[in-house]
Amino acid sequence: MSAQIPPQRGPRVTAKSLCALKASSRPIVMITAYDFASARLVEHAGIDAILVGDSLGMTVLGHESTLPVTLDDMLRATTAVSRACERVLVVADMPFMSYQVSYEEGMRNAGRMIAAGGAHAVKLEGATSLTLALVRGLSEAGVPVMGHVGLTPQSVHALGGYRLQATDETAAAKLLSDCLALEAAGAFAVVLECIPAELAERVTALLSVPTIGIGAGVGCDGQVQVFHDLLGLSERQPRHAARYVDLSAAIVNAVETYAADVRAGAFPTEQQTTHADVAMVTAALEAVGRSDSGAHT
Ligand code: KIV
Repeated sequence: MSAQIPPQRGPRVTAKSLCALKASSRPIVMITAYDFASARLVEHAGIDAILVGDSLGMTVLGHESTLPVTLDDMLRATTAVSRACERVLVVADMPFMSYQVSYEEGMRNAGRMIAAGGAHAVKLEGATSLTLALVRGLSEAGVPVMGHVGLTPQSVHALGGYRLQATDETAAAKLLSDCLALEAAGAFAVVLECIPAELAERVTALLSVPTIGIGAGVGCDGQVQVFHDLLGLSERQPRHAARYVDLSAAIVNAVETYAADVRAGAFPTEQQTTHADVAMVTAALEAVGRSDSGAHT
């Protein structure tokens, strides 16, 4: 069974050691996970960091966007993931409106992700003045913060859909200055989502902290992908995601086989069955006054 694959050993990946990978030019590997079982498997596969993404709104909860995801949804998922992980860096997404209302609320909610959720860092979208203040405040409080620019799904309505960002000079300049501002505020890394590869490469060269790309080309310091996209569990596959295995087909096939076995009386077999002394069962039936009832097979 895959769950028994021995884990990759090594020292705990930290925000600091992740940053050091930029200097070593070894690309950073990050993937989302939302529960204990998948977090264990991806840690065992030897990746560097897990993002407990608010993409769980779509992948796990069946919403149309990340907007309905609550702090409780994120806390439950983050707690399960951090319980599973011994080595990787666990970064928790701050959900919509958990940090956009006020500085105090943002600080408190991010603190819950660390203290109650067990995350090692949080991720915030955008670079508004409030977000930058939070990046500064959290960093000063000892909470590593990952920034996220380009396609920021919590602003999907303002952006007019899930589409490539920073495609003209003004938007590209804004993205460059947002990245510099996030770095100056103390962000330890920045996610670049759905921007042209040429721009992502220049941002990566400009920043001293790592860039983690998703739909931003090969020139970033690392890549992040959604678990369900990589493993063929998503109904809609984004263009930037490669499907490494078709688990949907494997799961449907396994469940069809199980259903057919149950219907044919071929499951359970002796291997999944335990037995008792017939006299004991007869005595139990007598004790409830139903010694006349026969076995149903
Ligand atoms: O929620 C998420 O999965 C993300 C990644 C797409 C970066 O934010």
